[in-house]
Amino acid sequence: MITALLALQVLLLAAGCGQSERSEPASRIKIGISVYDQYDTFISSMMDSFNRLVEEEKSGGKQITLEFYDAAGSQKQQDMQAREMIEDGCRAICINLVDRTAPTTIIDLARKNNVAVVFFNRELVEEDLLQFDKLYYVGADAFQSGILQGEIAAAACAGRDNPADRNGDGSIQYVVLEGEAGHQDAIVRTETSVDTLIKSGVQLDKVGYAIANWNRAQAQTKMSQLIDQYGDRIELVLANNDDMALGAIDAYRARSIDLQDRPLIFGIDGTAVGLEAIRSHEMAGTVYNDKDGQAKAMLELALRLAQQEPIDDLDMIDGKYIRLPYTGITAKNADEFE
Ligand code: BGC
Repeated sequence: MITALLALQVLLLAAGCGQSERSEPASRIKIGISVYDQYDTFISSMMDSFNRLVEEEKSGGKQITLEFYDAAGSQKQQDMQAREMIEDGCRAICINLVDRTAPTTIIDLARKNNVAVVFFNRELVEEDLLQFDKLYYVGADAFQSGILQGEIAAAACAGRDNPADRNGDGSIQYVVLEGEAGHQDAIVRTETSVDTLIKSGVQLDKVGYAIANWNRAQAQTKMSQLIDQYGDRIELVLANNDDMALGAIDAYRARSIDLQDRPLIFGIDGTAVGLEAIRSHEMAGTVYNDKDGQAKAMLELALRLAQQEPIDDLDMIDGKYIRLPYTGITAKNADEFE
């Protein structure tokens, strides 16, 4: 996280964020990016990746100027940032919407100024994406992440006398830690993960759930309340992302509950901290959310759009979407990811 923040700060300085740079030579490619919250673990690791790739392109001879903005959870602020990027001469901008149901101001600005927009990670509805022909989306398929989490969890919970069923009642008592309400990844991940477990033949018994907004500290508080309520009845925790799974682990650690007396805990993302928890067996599994692939696709698309180069050879769905596949991770293959 610290590396990510440092990198972002360097970029903010390098970009002279918010300052006009209209005197750039014409050969420079200028792109802008705004994230919904730079302190989000997944987003900050994706930005690390993005920055690395920009540096690689620069050392390969491309003259790129990148303007980086943090919307800090405010859609209004992000709308202003988009305006600033466009006024500064960015020909393509990358937007991680704060409110995925409110892209209209940015789309109107883009259309008026004929600027391309690559939305990423927080998916706007198709109707909005079709409002202008220079709008694109880079992300992943939420259904796939839920299915993979469910499959990994089912492999750990299935079968007679499985250790996950600690009270031996033949069914697995579980809780869900959910991401931000309204986010495309939150509800879909929960539903498909649970459906997959059921289809795999695991008897499930839902004992509770809490919304923890992708956030580790909130998840620790919520998990602590669930432990107060249900104690050692909880045998399985399905978290919509790694940070919330880690928050659940924090709650058990804070009570000094030994690993063998904790439920199986699953996340999604495969962040560096998540992978560490898999290696120490505190997290039973996660699903890799391909930050590198998404950063690469986003940069490639933005650079081409900014230079008005063709994009028809890119691997796109309906000429508008790029979705990178997820991969399941357990302790067995954790070392293949970084
Ligand atoms: C990630 C979360 C992240 C969220 C932000 C999701 O795809 O799994 O970790 O907080 O995106 O929008």
